[in-house]
This record gives sequence, C-alpha cells and structure tokens, in this order.
Amino acid sequence: MSLRGKDLLSLREMSQEDMELVLSTARSLKEILSRPIKKVPTLRGKVVCNLFYEPSTRTKMSFELAARYMSADPVSFAKETSAMKKGETLADTARNLEAMGVDLVVMRHNVSGSCHFLAKVLDIPVVNAGDGMNEHPTQALLDIFTILDYKSRIRGLKVAIIGDVLHSRVARSNIFGLTKMGAEISVAGPSTLLPPEIEKLGVKAYTRPEEAIEGADVVYVLRLQLERQSKSLFPSQREYSNFFGINRHKLSYAKEDAIVMHPGPMNRGVEITTDIADSPRSVILDQVTSGVAVRMAILYHILGGRD
Ligand code: CP
Repeated sequence: MSLRGKDLLSLREMSQEDMELVLSTARSLKEILSRPIKKVPTLRGKVVCNLFYEPSTRTKMSFELAARYMSADPVSFAKETSAMKKGETLADTARNLEAMGVDLVVMRHNVSGSCHFLAKVLDIPVVNAGDGMNEHPTQALLDIFTILDYKSRIRGLKVAIIGDVLHSRVARSNIFGLTKMGAEISVAGPSTLLPPEIEKLGVKAYTRPEEAIEGADVVYVLRLQLERQSKSLFPSQREYSNFFGINRHKLSYAKEDAIVMHPGPMNRGVEITTDIADSPRSVILDQVTSGVAVRMAILYHILGGRD
C-alpha cells in the first residue's frame, strides 16, 4: 500500500485503506502545528505548485503552509498575471511547470473533470483542490478527520448534509468518503438544489431539513453557491434562509451533542446563523486547523514519505 507518486483526484476512487493511511499520518503530524517552530525536514528539496483557477483562502493557504511545515518549497500560479491571459492552455501551462522542476501540482478549477484531464497530461502527481461541481477530496478528508476528533468513529454515525447539494463538490466527496467508512447520510435542500437520483449514492434525501437532521450526530451546512447558478433556483435568499438556514430551532432536531460543520466560506445569516456558527457546537475552525495536518499527510505520502 503506497500513495507515492500517485494522484489524489477523488474519494469515489480512493480506497478506504488509503483514506485511513492519510488520516492516521495526519493524526501524527498534527502535533507539529503546536510546536514553537513548525518545521520538519521531511520534504526538503521538493517543490509544490498551487495552480488555482478559482478563488480560495483555506485550501490554497493550507497547502502552502503544509508544504512549508514539511520543508518543501511552495510556488503559486496567479491566473490574472499568467500567460493564460495571452491564450496559453491549461495543458501547456502545466507542462511548463513540470519542465521547471515542480514535483507536484495542486489544482483548483471551475470545470468538473479538469484534474483528471491534467493527471493524464502530466507525469508528476496531481492533487484535486476542487474541480467544478465534481469533488473536493482533501476537504472531505479533513472533515472526516475532524469528525473522528469529536466522535472517535465514523461507522454508524448519522450525518446530515444541508443546503445547496447540487453545486457542492464538498458534499459529493463527503458522501463518497463517509459512506465508504460506514456513516449514514441524509441530505436536505430545496428540490431544485438536490441532484436528480442522489439516492443512488447511498443517501436519504429530504426537502425538509428537520427530517434529515432528526437524531443527527453531525450537521454539515453547505454554502449557497450563487456563483454556479445562472438562473434563480429559489424565490429569495430570505426564503432560503427561513426554510433551510441552520438556526437554533433546526439544530434542536439533532442529538444534544451533535457538532456543526461548514467548509467555508460562510454566508452568515443565509445558510447558518451567526449564533450557531460561533457556538460551542461549531467545529468550523477545527476543520481549518485539521486541514493543514491532513494536507501535510497527503504531501508526505505522495512525495515519498514512508508508509
Ligand atoms: N473549503 C474551501 O475549499 O475553502 P476555500 O474556497 O477558501 O479554499
């Protein structure tokens, strides 16, 4: 079992064994984040390129920090100031980065399947940092890591995923990863924001969030992705917030010790109220911290760490 030199494109494709390998390594590496000097020499000499065609705060910064903490050199591609503006293609851009000696590319792109395309073009490994509406596998790995922190298991847990499921690569990766590890998943959202035949992924689907949240151990709130909606899919943000926004009342349907998660960035007052986002039940900033450890583990295994 080794992830060395491999791409990480999807949790639909990743084995449970490989997921558990990343999670257990992240558990060991997380300790580095609380040291006064957050640096180990493990990946000295390796170069990690962040190739982001869509905005990002958490994913981009945490891959950059993960690389630095492991002594790799991160470099970043800025779409606005690159030769893409002169018409250079994605494949040519990436081949040029490979020719300069980059060892691994982390890519975010608005087109579903673009990371699989890039992995075919390049000999170096590609990590999917979010491709269109398809998958965001490293987000789901850090989410699973965070759930394990609080619940110590995944098998048998009830996870409710609420909101804009249709446009959410985070929801898809979590559904693939969590069902593989034995969680029971319910999703809820307006019928226009639920993918057709979502039940085929092994989840229960509802249009009333209270039904999905009933008895849940984890309430996972999704961002309303207006940037991916060319036409109006619900009457107004106010109505969306009334029916689907997670507030004290809706959370009362979950177990008393249920945790609240969100991948960020949050639309406060739309999909989640501020009092819930900032409450002791919210583990949203823990997700962000765990993201650095999980991404350190991913770089470690792919760039040559021992299993
Ligand atoms: N969760 C997430 O992918 O956040 P960013 O868009 O800030 O990377």
